[in-house]
Amino acid sequence: MAERGGLEREIIELRRQLQEHNHRYYIDDAPTISDAEYDALLRRLQRLETEAGLPIPPDSPTQTVGAPPSTRFTPRRHKVAMLSLENAFSDAEMAAFDRRLRTLLGDGADCEYVVEPKIDGLAVNLTYIDGRLVCAATRGDGTQGEDVTANARTIADIPWRLRGEPPPELEIRGEVLMDRPTFTRLNRERRAEGAAPFANPRNAAAGSLRQRDPRVTAGRGLRFFAYAVGAGLEAIPAANQEGLLAWLRGCGLPVQPWQKCATIDEIVALVARWERELRHSLPYDIDGLVFKLNDFAQQQRVGALARAPRWAIARKFAAEEATTRVAAIRWQVGRTGVLTPVADLDPVAVAGVTVTHATLHNIDELRRKDVRPGDRVVVRRAGEVIPEIVRSLGREGTRAEPPDAPETCPACGARTRRATGEVAIRCDNISCPAQLLQHCRHFVSREAMDIDGLGRKLLTRLVDEGMVTSIADLYRLPWSRIAEWEGMGEKKIANLRQAVEASKSRPLERFLFALGIRHVGAATARALAGRFPSLERLQAAPIDALTAIDGIGEAVARAIRDFFSEPRNRRLLDELAGLGVRPQVAEGGADAPRPLAGRRIVVTGTIEGWSRRALEQRLRALGAALSSSVSARTDLVIAGERAGGKLTRARELGVSVLNSADLPNWLEAMED
Ligand code: IVH
Repeated sequence: MAERGGLEREIIELRRQLQEHNHRYYIDDAPTISDAEYDALLRRLQRLETEAGLPIPPDSPTQTVGAPPSTRFTPRRHKVAMLSLENAFSDAEMAAFDRRLRTLLGDGADCEYVVEPKIDGLAVNLTYIDGRLVCAATRGDGTQGEDVTANARTIADIPWRLRGEPPPELEIRGEVLMDRPTFTRLNRERRAEGAAPFANPRNAAAGSLRQRDPRVTAGRGLRFFAYAVGAGLEAIPAANQEGLLAWLRGCGLPVQPWQKCATIDEIVALVARWERELRHSLPYDIDGLVFKLNDFAQQQRVGALARAPRWAIARKFAAEEATTRVAAIRWQVGRTGVLTPVADLDPVAVAGVTVTHATLHNIDELRRKDVRPGDRVVVRRAGEVIPEIVRSLGREGTRAEPPDAPETCPACGARTRRATGEVAIRCDNISCPAQLLQHCRHFVSREAMDIDGLGRKLLTRLVDEGMVTSIADLYRLPWSRIAEWEGMGEKKIANLRQAVEASKSRPLERFLFALGIRHVGAATARALAGRFPSLERLQAAPIDALTAIDGIGEAVARAIRDFFSEPRNRRLLDELAGLGVRPQVAEGGADAPRPLAGRRIVVTGTIEGWSRRALEQRLRALGAALSSSVSARTDLVIAGERAGGKLTRARELGVSVLNSADLPNWLEAMED
């Protein structure tokens, strides 16, 4: 008896909870639990009601649809009730649905289904009298909805007049929605205005349609798709759902693309395909597929229950959102030195995968979403995307303090920096372990220090085995140990040692590029090396000495200064110098004459005695700007053997051409 009392108490409590959630969802447009959690509560109530075997009151959430209309709007009675749909969450439940229909329809009946995406929006009923829109109402409790006619008239997809010859009285049922691009734009605008953003497109659509002022609705870019007819269905020349959708389209109403299938295998395959990929190709959110028995005569034969027809079912996808608790918020250093806030979560299943942490993107997002340790949060995992926190639901009792922006890098302890105008917080220490591999790969690359043989695989192993913990370690590799590794023969080691040795005297510009200073690409490195005769002079340069260089702006200058003012970087440079890394100041450093300054030169063809790179370097040292194509602005083309189109073009344009045979004398003259 006591147990029975417990069961009843739980039933009553579940009904109360579900009614409260219905109100938050349908009336306030602000649900506090995810759809999946709601579905789970409803299912539990359904099970317990069956188990208890007591009469079920007609107002139980298992028997009702939505919520009664809010008093903010005039109530409108639907001519034909607007039902909801039963849900299926697995292939087995779909098989049961298919079996049930076949049994109801009698032995050997053919069942064909029309499959439509299940839009995550809000259902509306449009009443057309003699083809003219006279009323638009929300679904409400299925019997009565809220009058939103003035607002619905502002939606471009909803025609004021239907095409063709519709029945004199016609109820069109469909879904009002907001697509994702519109939702993103709207929330961006709202944030800019200091208004609270909408939690998801469904709430945004509901909040936008259920407005007092139609002008607000008009500006929200809502969309509409029709999928059913209430009153007037019998007068429509269609014998099945497929025919109805085509007819609706003919009236000028937008309908979604539909598919057909007839067996459980086809059903399973379709669901898998939509859930995996197709759903993400739509610009709006869908939360499942609706399977409808195609034939209207068959629909009639199987009929309906209190809240939903028996001839249709919504196959819900695994929810992409779930709620859980934030255990902690930490900062993760990415390979490029950007610090990202990450929330450690109590494990939760989202879209079939257990999620234990989610990204908060950056400090601005973290502040905007106001996520704090201990909060309950909504987590989303859509497609292949990394799980993210959609919003915080706060917590009962006192919340923790909002996390601060980190002042030091969690991986190396260096001071972090946030450049003005940038959202990213960074660690500029190139020896930071989190960034080390990336930095090493860049450092040894061909355009940088050009250490041939130190490829990705070898570097990864060196870092993994702790032999390389900073760039400097590249110049004190334990060769005898490396020689024991598989594939590292004597010859290979000798070549590698030589490449490492040779890299110690690369030109300054290459060394500067190799350091991986933010915004300092090869061209900027060249400009810096051309202006400063030594690394020491560059390190000491004030911002305005940097911005005085052509092509270096404020942000780049600041990044250079930040880099050199990081003590860990300065120590590394000293260490490298101690290991014999002495970048060579290119001929034509700051003090050398620059007779080709401002001249645009193109080199083409093979030039005897010169590698292309060496010649270009020499020309740059003399101040020339090198370009890869010939135009009227080109000052000189240096043409070697097999020069082709560029030489022809130079002749056409009357640009001076220097034959490579004359190059040595010409260079000598320039350098004199
Ligand atoms: S047919 C009697 N088709 O899902 C059947 N409903 O959970 C009427 N929905 O109330 C509904 N897309 O708001 C149908 N293609 C679609 C749908 C769809 C979304 C909504 C509709 C319905 C709810 C049931």
